[in-house]
Amino acid sequence: MKSFEEWLRESGLERYAAAFSENDIDFSNARALSEADLRELGLTLGHRKNFMVALAALEASTPARPANPAAIPSPAPAVNLRPSTDAARLREAGERRQLSVLFCDMVGFTELASRVDPEILRDIIRSYEDTCAASITRYEGYVFQRQGDGIVAFFGYPLAHEGEAERAIRAALEIVASLSTLVVSEVGHLQVRIGIATGLVVVSSAESAVGETINLASRLQNVAQPGSIVVSERVHRLAGGAFDYEDLGEQTLKGIARGTHAYRILSVSQAASRFEAATQDGLTPMVGREQEIALLMERWQLAQGGEGQVVLLSGEPGIGKSRILSALRERLEATGAGTLRFQCSPYYTNSAFWPTIQNFERELNFARDDSPEAKLDKLEALIVTHYGRPLSDVRFIASIMSIPCEARYGALPLTPQKHKDETLRSLVDLTEAVARRQPSVMLFEDAHWADPTTLEVLDLLIDRVGGMPLLIVLTHRPEFPSHWSEQGHVSAVNLSKLTRAQSTAILSRLAGGKALPAALVEQILAKTDGVPLFVEELTKSILESRELREMGDRYDYRGAAHTVSIPATLRDSLMARLDRFTPVKEIAQIGAAFGREFSYELISAVATMGKVQLDDALARLIASGLAFRRGTPPDAVYTFKHALVQDAAYDSLLKSRRQELHANIARVIEERLPNIRTIEPEVLAHHELGPLFGQVKTRNRSLRRLGPDHG
Ligand SMILES: Nc1ncnc2c1ncn2[C@@H]1O[C@H](COP(=O)(O)OP(=O)(O)OP(=O)(O)O)[C@@H](O)[C@H]1O
Ligand SMILES: [Mg+2]
Repeated sequence: MKSFEEWLRESGLERYAAAFSENDIDFSNARALSEADLRELGLTLGHRKNFMVALAALEASTPARPANPAAIPSPAPAVNLRPSTDAARLREAGERRQLSVLFCDMVGFTELASRVDPEILRDIIRSYEDTCAASITRYEGYVFQRQGDGIVAFFGYPLAHEGEAERAIRAALEIVASLSTLVVSEVGHLQVRIGIATGLVVVSSAESAVGETINLASRLQNVAQPGSIVVSERVHRLAGGAFDYEDLGEQTLKGIARGTHAYRILSVSQAASRFEAATQDGLTPMVGREQEIALLMERWQLAQGGEGQVVLLSGEPGIGKSRILSALRERLEATGAGTLRFQCSPYYTNSAFWPTIQNFERELNFARDDSPEAKLDKLEALIVTHYGRPLSDVRFIASIMSIPCEARYGALPLTPQKHKDETLRSLVDLTEAVARRQPSVMLFEDAHWADPTTLEVLDLLIDRVGGMPLLIVLTHRPEFPSHWSEQGHVSAVNLSKLTRAQSTAILSRLAGGKALPAALVEQILAKTDGVPLFVEELTKSILESRELREMGDRYDYRGAAHTVSIPATLRDSLMARLDRFTPVKEIAQIGAAFGREFSYELISAVATMGKVQLDDALARLIASGLAFRRGTPPDAVYTFKHALVQDAAYDSLLKSRRQELHANIARVIEERLPNIRTIEPEVLAHHELGPLFGQVKTRNRSLRRLGPDHG
């Protein structure tokens, strides 16, 4: 069996062996590395691609698995894929995960198999599988099974990303599109049927994946017409306004207990921003953020007078960055200001000029069948006629949009570097021309996903904007290392949480003014920590739950307030935060069994890892921003920043593992606080009975110092 180092050597990547080893990367977690991780490890673009290809080849060399959609054993590894730590072995037992499962089947395979020579059939299957796998991998999905003409892929395993349903659909659209251009001998074009479903799956790397969701995806695939993609009700809800759909109505599917609504995917929607796609069902009235809007309006006054300004709006996902932009846009457009909109995408972080290309395509309304000539005409009309820029600049913009233009403008012998410099310059000049024509605001969304070349354009533009009638408002998440804030005309605003009153206002609006039980409101406020997205999603999922009943001007809740569960719409994003750092997740899961807060003393007694490993994991947990620490170990107390992250960590544990943890916690508490059974029996009962008992809030100060505070 090959070691990881040997495999790196064989793949021509031995120079990175030290970097992989220092970061504890081996076969157990290599598959989970994203493009960004590889970049962080120092791999060049070419070597990142080589790494992916070599890993895919390694996986492809594992034997195929049988197709029982509801319970699929994973492959016997061809090389040593064993995890290197106890923690990883524990994880191998399995996890409860929300997955988006893609089931893809080739149309007419049986007929084809009866008609062509097996050797040709093998080649056909190979190109079909490679095409599918490339699209799945591009959206960071995981090819879980290939057998004959069927492919099962998971989105959300081994690592979760925000928006797995959307990723699965994008991969499916790409599979359909790629196959339509692939010409296969004896067949011509291959066609597929694809089904996608999202739901809970228990999945482990070394055993099996089990869940009705896999079955549902397979049944939806049966419903699909050749060349089409059919998704479940939940996928439709999760992916929302990112796509256009055809409603296929209620479907009765074999082996699926309840009927399900199904939708056919038509195309990616034309929404101009992620925010528009996500809020297509309407907005609740804006609450708060008066100061931020006032600051933006003040900067706008300066910009209008020719002193260009930049405002960097940062904050965690769902805190309300885009909402502020939308409010600002409404106000400014009402006064006749021009708006330039750019939206970065998590799927195009390496495509040069991606947001700019999208912006032009929207502005110019390119039709699918527009010829290059027609496109150049539109581009010239905009750049030269409308904005008065020289014709010689058009070629640079045409070339970033991949519109062939040498026939019209002739060849230009420039070095690649000079060509790039000229392209950046013409984009900044064009932006200036737009602003000079009419004072404008540039709304630049999600800079953390901007491709490197787009960041270079921003560098140049931000340097020069001081003399233009332009306000640039740029949003980003906290992890984005912005280096612009040192300049005088640049202000950075970090969005804080909403207050209780503001969260309550959103909640009441969603409940249509009808009163919700006080305990439930309290629970929603506690779980959502002033993040408007959390308030919206949790309230909506409760309003849709069967436990809630409308009684005139109020609602009655039949369930127990503490049992409100995480909305499906937030699961991917919460899990993604935990998955980003594997050792952190392990410790977060154990901590979550204690509650929102846990002490160093108790967790060290329950976790089986050694002291060095534990201290390292806890330090990373704090560095990841998922938890805060008070005091220093061994007297430290840790608090999850978000109750919902704690819930997500807890929910991902297998029920059997939860019981084991609760039993250990009960034992440790009893050992360290022998009189706990008489002072606070409910705390012990919580751990002895596990989740059945619900949440408890300890009154005992020494116990709180030791651990459980189930707020
Ligand atoms: N001040 C507010 N008042 C009312 N609703 C709000 C407010 N801020 C945000 N929301 C709502 O919360 C949801 C999330 O907000 P938004 O999309 O602006 O977050 P974001 O910070 O842009 O997140 P991301 O990082 O994912 O882009 C939206 O539905 C938005 O309408
Ligand atoms: Mg946003």
